[in-house]
Amino acid sequence: MPISIIVRNYDVDSSKYEALRNTPRPGHADLTYELKYGIRDWRGGGRSSARETIGRVAAGAIAKKILLISGIEVLGHVVELGGIRANAVDIENIRENTEKNPVRCADPDAAIEMEAMIQQARSEGDSVGGIVEIISTGVPAGVGEPVFDKLSAELAKGLMSIGAVKGVEIGAGFRSAIMKGSQNNDQIGVCNGKPVPDSNNSGGILGGISNGQQIVCRIAVKPTPSISKEQRTVDLSMMKETKIKITGRHDPSIPPRIVPVAEAMVALVLVDQMMRGGS
Ligand SMILES: Cc1cc2nc3c(=O)[nH]c(=O)nc-3n(C[C@H](O)[C@H](O)[C@H](O)COP(=O)(O)O)c2cc1C
Repeated sequence: MPISIIVRNYDVDSSKYEALRNTPRPGHADLTYELKYGIRDWRGGGRSSARETIGRVAAGAIAKKILLISGIEVLGHVVELGGIRANAVDIENIRENTEKNPVRCADPDAAIEMEAMIQQARSEGDSVGGIVEIISTGVPAGVGEPVFDKLSAELAKGLMSIGAVKGVEIGAGFRSAIMKGSQNNDQIGVCNGKPVPDSNNSGGILGGISNGQQIVCRIAVKPTPSISKEQRTVDLSMMKETKIKITGRHDPSIPPRIVPVAEAMVALVLVDQMMRGGS
């Protein structure tokens, strides 16, 4: 039977949203919802609020359990925040360290700097964005469809459907645009009687199909739009320009919060594609 999960929110507080009833927040979806529907749920952002991601994470938890049966693990971590870049760490460190600090960064030194960066931006009434990497291990070769529903295309769609995600790259991603073919190609050797690429610029996917290597996705996450710094907007009831300062319970930085959401989306896409392939 279908699995149904209901989450009742007993911590509702719409008071801070009252001031936003007629004034769309710059960078948020308030204006596009008004333009499309002529009405929006100003009491918390409605479906454009990251509250909707609870459904993704809950379903993703089930997908992760299904994947574990096949020895597949999906691990996300923050690799850049407010311009601070984490040192590259191996998969064991990602598994061990990511949940040990509030910024979900597997490099403990960078995590301290990132936390300070968030505090600084917050004290200035501002916010910072960053980059989250999601690595899937143990995915067998052969997952994915060859043309329109490529594994890479489905992952990009799943990840881009999360609020605040403004870019997705797989493997070398945007860096591959400045590489030579001889640098970008993962050359192939034989390991334990099997053909194995000796690097992973492809991010584990070629032609939309997994090759058995780690699947490496990265997402660019924008800074939280709701900031307390004064900004220009419009009072739609009078169609007059005005100023707003946004207060309330907002995330000063989204990347640490988005890690479980991004993991969930990758897990869901992998389960879908594996089921489609007959697993
Ligand atoms: C996990 C998560 C937490 C978020 N937290 C906030 C927040 O506290 N305040 C806010 O203004 N936007 C927050 N956002 C971002 C908005 O949901 C998003 O920017 C908005 O819906 C506009 O969509 P777009 O940025 O994808 O264009 C969050 C997004 C995610 C995924």
